[in-house]
Amino acid sequence: MTVFLLAALGGGCFLLMPRLRNYHLPGNQQGYEPAQPVAFSHRQHAGELSISCLYCHFGAERSRQAGLPSANLCMNCHRFVTASWEAMFREYFEALHANRPVRPVVSAELAKLYDSLGLDDQLLPDPKKASTPTAWIRVHNLPAYACFDHRAHLQAGATCQRCHGPVETMDRVRQVEDLSMGWCVDCHRNPGLPEVGGQQRQPSTDCAVCHH
Ligand code: HEC
Ligand code: HEC
Ligand code: HEC
Ligand code: HEC
Ligand code: HEC
Repeated sequence: MTVFLLAALGGGCFLLMPRLRNYHLPGNQQGYEPAQPVAFSHRQHAGELSISCLYCHFGAERSRQAGLPSANLCMNCHRFVTASWEAMFREYFEALHANRPVRPVVSAELAKLYDSLGLDDQLLPDPKKASTPTAWIRVHNLPAYACFDHRAHLQAGATCQRCHGPVETMDRVRQVEDLSMGWCVDCHRNPGLPEVGGQQRQPSTDCAVCHH
């Protein structure tokens, strides 16, 4: 990484700084909103059901990465909730009305979750099915030479929404900010975050803080 910095500085990077500020590398796209292999909705889970962001992204408080939840964590609820409330209640009342046992209802999207865990119709492990983790498509992606750390930002009082926008209103996650160097540095110059423990953090703008 030192080699990179020397090359960058030697290349007159300082002179180029004003122009680099709004430059975006390919693959670092504001507004990127890919379809995911399972139609998981943040509006439904973090919005309507008010599940805390940290319940699923517990890494954010402890490490560089917020991380994605495993399918086993989803099963804390989806062992019982196998379809939308609406579909489950409809079946329940139809069964009651017809005086027959309630049949299991499994939605198409949740069937993908059970498949990924190698479960059968009864939600028991099926030896014939392999379990394959859901291949979520990454939305936010900094280039490898830029270092980011969730824990430091949460400790300084930044909310998830400050950098990711109103995720709890999104059916599909969208990259709201441009994640350019200018965006990072603007906030490091003037964080405007609430005090934490009676103290305001003063982030550095040294190149080596983000490029090491
Ligand atoms: C704390 C409980 C809880 C957790 C944890 C949870 N869900 Fe859900 N999920 C629900 C409930 C409740 C519903 C139904 C809400 C409704 O119908 O309004 C739901 C609905 C869904 C649906 C839509 C079902 C349909 O077809 O309408 C999908 C897909 C889904 N969840 C996937 C996931 C995935 C993937 C995870 C793990 C990353 C997860 N859920 C974690 C409670 C949870
Ligand atoms: C029930 C579990 C659950 C909860 C609660 C939850 N998330 Fe997520 N989150 C996921 C899953 C699963 C994905 C991967 C699929 C996707 O992108 O929708 C994800 C993806 C994301 C991403 C995109 C990551 C990337 O690929 O760049 C962001 C940002 C995010 N969540 C932020 C939040 C915030 C902010 C909250 C609270 C408002 C929250 N999440 C609440 C499960 C959850
Ligand atoms: C100061 C800005 C900032 C804050 C605050 C922040 N994030 Fe992020 N988040 C980012 C950046 C930048 C990335 C891309 C990191 C990368 O590509 O290395 C990211 C990536 C993610 C990812 C993708 C997986 C990962 O770990 O890299 C998830 C999920 C996520 N954030 C969730 C959250 C949640 C939940 C919160 C609040 C608890 C939060 N973030 C707070 C800036 C932020
Ligand atoms: C909302 C304002 C804000 C944004 C946006 C932001 N930062 Fe920060 N950053 C901070 C604050 C506040 C600190 C904590 C300084 C402290 O602990 O004294 C910090 C600290 C850091 C640290 C030091 C971590 C450590 O271990 O001490 C790194 C590295 C960093 N930020 C990288 C980035 C990168 C890369 C981006 C852009 C992708 C970014 N930041 C965007 C406010 C921000
Ligand atoms: C607060 C974090 C932060 C600091 C401080 C920072 N950078 Fe960056 N830098 C980034 C991020 C994030 C990117 C990637 C931007 C993107 O993907 O669009 C980047 C990209 C770059 C690039 C490649 C960008 C391009 O657009 O060609 C160079 C060169 C660079 N930085 C040099 C520097 C130098 C020199 C300094 C010190 C004067 C510095 N950076 C300070 C976060 C930072």
